[in-house]
Amino acid sequence: MKIKFLLNGETVELADVSPTETLLDWLREDRGLTGTKEGCNEGDCGACTVMVTDEGGAKALNACILFMPQLHGKAVRTVEGASGPDGQMHPAQQAVVEHHGSQCGFCTPGFVMSMVASHANGATDHDTQLAGNLCRCTGYAPIVRAAQAVESQPVPVWVRDKPVAVEPASPMMPRSSDELAEVYAAHPEATLVAGATDVGLWVTKQLRDLDPVIFLGGCDDLKEISITEDEVRIGAMVDMNRMGAAMADLHPSYAEMIRRYASVQVRHAATVGGNVANGSPIGDNPPALIALGARLHLRKGDARRSMPLEAFFVDYGKQDRAPGEFVEAVSFPRQADRLKCYKLSKRFDQDISAVCGCFNITVADGVVAQARIAFGGMAGIPKRAAAVEAALVGKAWTHETVQAALPAFDRDFTPLTDMRASAEYRLETARAMLERYFAEDQGEVANVLEVSA
Ligand SMILES: Cc1cc2nc3c(=O)[nH]c(=O)nc-3n(C[C@H](O)[C@H](O)[C@H](O)COP(=O)(O)OP(=O)(O)OC[C@H]3O[C@@H](n4cnc5c(N)ncnc54)[C@H](O)[C@@H]3O)c2cc1C
Ligand code: FES
Ligand code: FES
Repeated sequence: MKIKFLLNGETVELADVSPTETLLDWLREDRGLTGTKEGCNEGDCGACTVMVTDEGGAKALNACILFMPQLHGKAVRTVEGASGPDGQMHPAQQAVVEHHGSQCGFCTPGFVMSMVASHANGATDHDTQLAGNLCRCTGYAPIVRAAQAVESQPVPVWVRDKPVAVEPASPMMPRSSDELAEVYAAHPEATLVAGATDVGLWVTKQLRDLDPVIFLGGCDDLKEISITEDEVRIGAMVDMNRMGAAMADLHPSYAEMIRRYASVQVRHAATVGGNVANGSPIGDNPPALIALGARLHLRKGDARRSMPLEAFFVDYGKQDRAPGEFVEAVSFPRQADRLKCYKLSKRFDQDISAVCGCFNITVADGVVAQARIAFGGMAGIPKRAAAVEAALVGKAWTHETVQAALPAFDRDFTPLTDMRASAEYRLETARAMLERYFAEDQGEVANVLEVSA
């Protein structure tokens, strides 16, 4: 594929790049830019963090799960380009030195690039901004102190990148959902790449050969979020950071769950469409969206159809999606906020859910008028708790009703035991989540385990 982008301020044009070559490999092996480190090669450690600027602004991203064609038209800055043209250090580099933020130094370029990006955006929630960077020896306090010290410094002119103007590069990089519909209908066997936070690992960990590949990143109309009086509609290519921002006012508990979805770097890449389309039983968006009554909008060529989101997940690894058909959007009704999302994972930050329970229970005159409850991690698919819902609806919203509904979890779910949790633990915590929802609804403080620094 033919691509053009900026690398540390200089234009790079590549005539024939492999669709699945990662930016990390290209930087280190073709360019000799070895400041960007390879740690996990799966998006988990942040050692490979670079700053990528597109029309949406500057973003920290993991180079190990970024395919070269995803850079077309963008500006990439590596740690080598963090310092100025005359060798002056970026304030983040200077602060890491002054605050003793580096020992072995392996993680340091990644931390610096996360700081360069968050500084460029004026972000000061450093615990969140740095949660995707792993340091094994310095400890986070000096690193966070360094990040705080940079806050008052101006953004150096040399890191103020702008995206670069480009021509359409290839039919496999469509610029709209219409173009996508056409090219996917012609190549229904192709792998769609949205944020590549799943697909990237198929290449770096499973060494799969993916060909042909269609990149969705240029389809701007799939990045739209529309909020009207009646409906919220989220385009398939909306990334998780934008999704979190959109949910902050409407459904704050959903936004808080997204803060704990992977890391800033992964959230900049991962899309709502990818998180639904992959059919994962432990994806965090589907339970929340199902609890909100979401519909999924699919398109194949010019034909469109939609369905309740829960109907899309047929069985483990099987979704109701035909060859050549893609996710255009999800939508759900505007509603008073009654949603609570409880993500249970071994770590607070950057961890996949063992159980994710989402509850949306409407009470009128003391009686449960409607209950939508959905779980991830409790079955082979994201699944509604139909028996629990039935045990609640029409009953008085009391502790007794909640207690009486708890045995229904056994009818809804037969979870697995795996490395994240045992079956019994999963069932027990699912029941506890309903009790927690009730307790919080009664004004009790129940989130004692959700600590923050
Ligand atoms: C370090 C790390 C941490 C993670 N943590 C979490 C977490 O906390 N919670 C969580 O839920 N997930 C997590 N994930 C998983 C991953 O981020 C999500 O599944 C993600 O949403 C996938 O979206 P994507 O845009 O990157 O999809 P991609 O990897 O590009 O695609 C995923 C699948 O969906 C298909 N696809 C993508 N878009 C469409 C479309 N519009 N129509 C049809 N098919 C499509 C692709 O062909 C592919 O099969 C994590 C991943 C990593 C690497
Ligand atoms: S090498 Fe670990 S996130 Fe990329
Ligand atoms: S300084 Fe050694 S891993 Fe961070």
